[in-house]
Amino acid sequence: MKFTVAIDGPAAAGKGTLSKRVAAEFGFAHLDTGLLYRATGARVLDGADPVSAAQNLTPEDLARDDLRTTAVAQAASKAAAIPQVRAALVQFQHDFAGREGGAVLDGRDIGTVICPDAQVKLFVTASDTVRAERRYLELSGKGQDVTREGVFRDLTERDARDREREAAPLAAAQDAVVIDTSHMTIEDAVAAAVAAIRTAL
Ligand code: DC
Repeated sequence: MKFTVAIDGPAAAGKGTLSKRVAAEFGFAHLDTGLLYRATGARVLDGADPVSAAQNLTPEDLARDDLRTTAVAQAASKAAAIPQVRAALVQFQHDFAGREGGAVLDGRDIGTVICPDAQVKLFVTASDTVRAERRYLELSGKGQDVTREGVFRDLTERDARDREREAAPLAAAQDAVVIDTSHMTIEDAVAAAVAAIRTAL
């Protein structure tokens, strides 16, 4: 069976947690497409050209332990605005989406560009302050040296760049189900996503 769930939304809206939970619930495979851009960004910070970094990503690049830093997130967002970088990463995402057994992909342009025919499209969002607080707690909990102000600035700057770029900007597909998690528990958000998927199945 081929069945694709596309989950898009701004940074720290809860896409990652929601995607993992939904994939586990239905036994689907999950791809965090942000990791492809983060791995590219990390190589750019090491001095690589963004396009050749994206064209030559290795499994080791995807397993680096610095991919979750704000510096890498910013480098990822900048590299992601380059059309040739995005083009280099399309095939891998298409292949993943088309695998047997169902796939969940989360990112910014999954429902609009990568998988416009996905059976289910979710757009997961939350207010800027809620998202910044969640990301602050996540990063400080991992021992990263971050401030609330710094995290807020990083998120809002990155979202603006991701929304305003020409190539595959962050946007909800017209037929996406919007889930605003600002005042939801993770259980509520999972229940809303699961309900949308069951309807489509
Ligand atoms: O989901 P994330 O925060 O790990 O993504 C990091 C950056 O990668 C994000 O700011 C924009 C870019 N990205 C993208 O342009 N398209 C995607 N499908 C996923 C991520």
